Amino acid sequence: MSKEENKKLFIETLGCQMNDTDSQHIIAELKEHKNYSTTRNMEEADLIIINTCSVREKPVQKLFSEIGQFNKKKKDSAKIGVCGCTASHLGDDIMKRAPYVDFVLGARNISKIKDVVDKKGAVEIDIDYDDSTYQFAASGMNMYKTSVNISIGCDKECTYCIVPATRGEEISIPLEMIVEQVQKDVANGAVEVTLLGQNVNSYGRRFSDGREKTSFTKLLQEVSKIDGLERIRFTSPHPLHMDDEFIEEFAKNPKISKCIHMPLQSGSSSILKAMKRGYSKEGFLKRAKKIRDLIPEVRITTDIIVAFPGETQEDFEDTIDVIKQVRFDQIFNFKYSARPNTQALELEDKEIPDEIGSARLTEVIELHKLHQSEHMDSNIGKTVNVLFESLKPNGEVSGFTDNYCQVFVKGSDELLGRFVDVKITGATRTALKGEVIN
Ligand code: SAH
Ligand code: SF4
Ligand code: F3S
Repeated sequence: MSKEENKKLFIETLGCQMNDTDSQHIIAELKEHKNYSTTRNMEEADLIIINTCSVREKPVQKLFSEIGQFNKKKKDSAKIGVCGCTASHLGDDIMKRAPYVDFVLGARNISKIKDVVDKKGAVEIDIDYDDSTYQFAASGMNMYKTSVNISIGCDKECTYCIVPATRGEEISIPLEMIVEQVQKDVANGAVEVTLLGQNVNSYGRRFSDGREKTSFTKLLQEVSKIDGLERIRFTSPHPLHMDDEFIEEFAKNPKISKCIHMPLQSGSSSILKAMKRGYSKEGFLKRAKKIRDLIPEVRITTDIIVAFPGETQEDFEDTIDVIKQVRFDQIFNFKYSARPNTQALELEDKEIPDEIGSARLTEVIELHKLHQSEHMDSNIGKTVNVLFESLKPNGEVSGFTDNYCQVFVKGSDELLGRFVDVKITGATRTALKGEVIN
């Protein structure tokens, strides 16, 4: 097929890191097969794509107001496509509410982008579609860090979560495809990779070709053999599936960044049961302690949902207690948001009044701020090793330590892509400031 004239794509990405990689795949596929290049100016675009998130209600509301705006300001001939998780769960309802939308492409169907892009009215949202072995076009981007999907879907049934309904069952991407992708990115200049999945620890349990099972630990070992790759990160692990073999690999493998996301969700064993998380307060604390004991410099981040239906003051205090014991380095806090296609909808009569939810959220945020300040201040005076990755317009260069703390120094683009020792001279709650040691 001959290539068409160059066209402009404007893409907006909401949601998680998996949506970011999906957007990268969309861009690469449209560049390779349809001769699109990206633009940041929506008004000059020939194609406008919004890659959506459904995990909470707010972004879904935002979607309709946003595409309405796009429709008003876009070029007359420009098409609008809605992709991602909201596309999966609303399907053709999107076109009923917004008839000017040209196509709808669900999260698990991204590999069909080149086919739907010219099909007015296409709705591809098959939840059983398997693109785990699809070879996406190369992104061709030279970056110090890259992200690679290791699985599609999610097999957990956390009762609050819409993701299994938008991304379908979990299928692992073949190990050799992942290794090959990382090798290519490293050849293009990447020194850091983030391995992505909704539950990375269950990697290797099901492949679409029915091959033998493997494990996330094995994948980490294989990826870490890649020459030139210096740092490995991953998200999200699931506290239930962080077995001893994994924790030991995490601790001893020098290429693995010593920052781990341990999504707690709630500190109350009874709420965790109602959420079907599969671990108790004590089980979580035991794993967090094991990690801190093995790796004193580790940074632990988490996700917390307050005001899950039926959450009593006592349950909430258990969450506060876990925060006090683990002293997380970063907390992503959310107020429970009732979502379609989730089991927690049945608990509607136990929903917590919004004012109580907001007060609990504030309490978590305030407590966490104290811990953050203490953690960050404790770095002042220390020497840390930083991989620099971006030059700011104000002449500062930013990068991350091995345990993924952001550091700013005065410097030039000569620092980019290098690991450099830095003496820490100051700290805010979210980043460190320092001076390069020559
Ligand atoms: N698979 C990942 C990410 C899931 S979505 C994981 O398990 O960690 C990211 C976060 O959104 C979740 O960890 C959870 O804290 C939050 N979340 C999911 N559904 C939610 C809901 N209905 N209301 C509020 N927060 C929610
Ligand atoms: Fe949602 Fe749970 Fe799967 Fe994470 S592990 S995506 S919270 S169902
Ligand atoms: Fe959102 Fe879908 Fe990711 S619902 S958080 S974009 S998996």
